[in-house]
Amino acid sequence: MNSYFFILGRNPALSFSEIISVLKKNSVPFTIKSLSREALIISTENTLSVGEYVNILGGTVKAGEVFSEINKEKEGINWEKNLTPELLLKSCVSGKVGKVHFGTSIYNQTTEDKYVAQYNREQGRVNIQIKKILKQNQISSGFVQSKERILPTATILYNKLLSNGFEFSVFVSEGKVLIGKTLSIQDFNAFSFRDMNRPFRDKKSGIIPPKLARIMINLSGKDSQSTILDPFCGSGTIPLEANLLGFRNILASDNSQKAVSDTQANLEWAKIHVLGFKGEYMLQVLKADVETLMSTYKPGSIDVIVTEPYLGPTIFNKPTKESVETLFKELSSLYQRALLGFSKILKPGGVVVMVFPSFLQTDGHQLIDTVNLLEKFGFEKKNSIPQNYANLFSSEITKRGTVIYGGELDIVHREIVVFQKKD
Ligand SMILES: C[S@@+](CC[C@H](N)C(=O)[O-])C[C@H]1O[C@@H](n2cnc3c(N)ncnc32)[C@H](O)[C@@H]1O
Repeated sequence: MNSYFFILGRNPALSFSEIISVLKKNSVPFTIKSLSREALIISTENTLSVGEYVNILGGTVKAGEVFSEINKEKEGINWEKNLTPELLLKSCVSGKVGKVHFGTSIYNQTTEDKYVAQYNREQGRVNIQIKKILKQNQISSGFVQSKERILPTATILYNKLLSNGFEFSVFVSEGKVLIGKTLSIQDFNAFSFRDMNRPFRDKKSGIIPPKLARIMINLSGKDSQSTILDPFCGSGTIPLEANLLGFRNILASDNSQKAVSDTQANLEWAKIHVLGFKGEYMLQVLKADVETLMSTYKPGSIDVIVTEPYLGPTIFNKPTKESVETLFKELSSLYQRALLGFSKILKPGGVVVMVFPSFLQTDGHQLIDTVNLLEKFGFEKKNSIPQNYANLFSSEITKRGTVIYGGELDIVHREIVVFQKKD
């Protein structure tokens, strides 16, 4: 049995459901060994190419293999006893030449924060034990001093830990401790390059972060042979990420000529500037209102729609519940027209991953009525988080099982809804 860990991004609920969706799509049999808001650890009989998964996922910041499991004693972890030279040299140092640079991250796999202070002490102890073993074996080493118990990916990158050493990862749960090493980190520079450097970004109509676009595509569970459409394409974030994920048939449309031109220009730019972008794949960008989807695309021709529609005008102050209700009434009519079109152009079993607006009020998220909307047009909602894990992610999951994306300071939050056309 192999065991792998995935370190979850800033929205752990989305990161978790994305990983589950991608593993299922790739028919990987797995069981969940440990899950917290910080990390998912799975067991599988398959050998996973962890780097390939990190390249696909938008919401995973690091991933690696777990190579040992130890029991936790009352007074903490006895590193002298449990971290032996055999274990360390075989798992982390084999094949390394010259001075070894390493760092340690300690993850909290419990639901309580009371151990966190202890973990911070643990980090120092682990580093000293590793250094001692390396010295005894005539290996010169240096470790990354860190105030944080979880090393940021930038620290790993800039200290070249993966090429010149290792990141030692410790996962502490109630009775046991899992230890492993990081094999791959997210290419955060590439995400921010695509986000910030593309020639056209329409801040006024809103831009979806590339990582979220990628998560949404992955949540669809559809493979890259599928025909994918974004009918509210804006400046083309979702089509660009779909291309990088290997989708060969990408359709995009928008009712604004500016958005169509921006998307076309951004995709042309990506052909030259974005590593891994496949200029030879089909990318069709059209000017079309969602009202005309049925005449723009053949009935039953689309496998998957991933989209962020118009979410309302830009507002700078928190709106009252009444004004949100008024906005929702206006938006409902746009969404009804969109969903009617989706129901006609999608194949049976076709999937939609769509953003809806949400506003955080004192008594929770104020959401648009998608339940009746989906029912009316023959869709059923798919839950992306298994029910037994919902409590862990209660701050991101709504009562109806959808996930909210947004920070405390954002006025409009995004509700991510996955739904499927009934056969
Ligand atoms: C929030 S933006 C999409 C942003 C996009 N996800 C991105 O990252 O650039 C919504 C888009 O919906 C388009 N739109 C609004 N109403 C529309 C309609 N009735 N039919 C088609 N597109 C529409 C707007 O022109 C705008 O580009």
